[in-house]
Amino acid sequence: MNPSARLTGLLFATAMFALGQNVYPVANVFKPEATPADSIYNVSMLMLAICAAIFLVVAGLLLFTIVRFRRRKTDDDREPAQIYGSNRIEVAWTVIPVLIVLVLGMATARAVVEVQDKRMPADALKVTVIGHQWWWEFRYPDLGIVTANELHVPLSTAAIPAVAALRLESADVAHSFWVAQLAGKTDVIPGITNNMWIDPRQAGVFLGNCAEYCGMQHANMLLRVVVEPAGDFEKWAAAQKMDAASDPQLESARTTFLSLNCISCHTVSGTIATGTFGPNLTHLMSRATLASGMVPNTPENLRAWVKDPQAIKHGNLMPNMQLNSRELDEVVKYLSSLK
Ligand code: CUA
Repeated sequence: MNPSARLTGLLFATAMFALGQNVYPVANVFKPEATPADSIYNVSMLMLAICAAIFLVVAGLLLFTIVRFRRRKTDDDREPAQIYGSNRIEVAWTVIPVLIVLVLGMATARAVVEVQDKRMPADALKVTVIGHQWWWEFRYPDLGIVTANELHVPLSTAAIPAVAALRLESADVAHSFWVAQLAGKTDVIPGITNNMWIDPRQAGVFLGNCAEYCGMQHANMLLRVVVEPAGDFEKWAAAQKMDAASDPQLESARTTFLSLNCISCHTVSGTIATGTFGPNLTHLMSRATLASGMVPNTPENLRAWVKDPQAIKHGNLMPNMQLNSRELDEVVKYLSSLK
């Protein structure tokens, strides 16, 4: 590739990246929107500033030495003065780095204590986050809500502070829960309960992902945190608490769905479908994505997913149910009614 083509390619890639920043909500550690993310951001900035200062001093001295003591035409061949050891310089290059490490260590410890020792307010919203290969389950024990892949939490404001207290559990292997703009990553370990919290101060959708390799589709174990004003959150919660809608016009579609093996893995509350192995489908259509954030929840994608989930997310635990076209139509029709 010639240099100008390479430059054009680089410019194009940069432009696409800049464009993408505006089109998609990108996970960005430099734009914290909750207290735990602030603490981590502040430590990172301090570390970056100190490292930049060290770099400037070292590179500056190096550059100065290279220029000042370069070989000149007027040089004779005598060796310069030879110096063997200097206590003053040795003390300086020992004490200064020790002080720097001490400052960074104390700043880090302060941030860790700030985040981990925070006492949860009595009215904190409790959510149990369960990592599965490869999707997230969210349970709200006090509200009686079970959903998947899209965590809804109320917006925290100065007038009405709101904290969501997350308990992290795993159904199988080790995962890690990470939403860069809200908090640091916390591991999700089988047999152990970890805790974290968020108090988002900006409404919107925040992207996160599993940050611990957990098998073939680890990279597609995405999640979304929907932060909404208290009133909207309450509306969402009230709708999620309801049993599935049962439109009499969809009787035949519902009967087909409930006659299939789907119900041994999925729950649709208010019906005989009570499986807990896969995501709860009671309000499937309230979610914006399918397959743990992989594809938008459109009618075409829903149909393609039910028809052959392995073609979209190879290796996931939902088998191809080998539905005939009538069954496929009815299942998709029924699922589409689960608002
Ligand atoms: Cu779950 Cu990686």
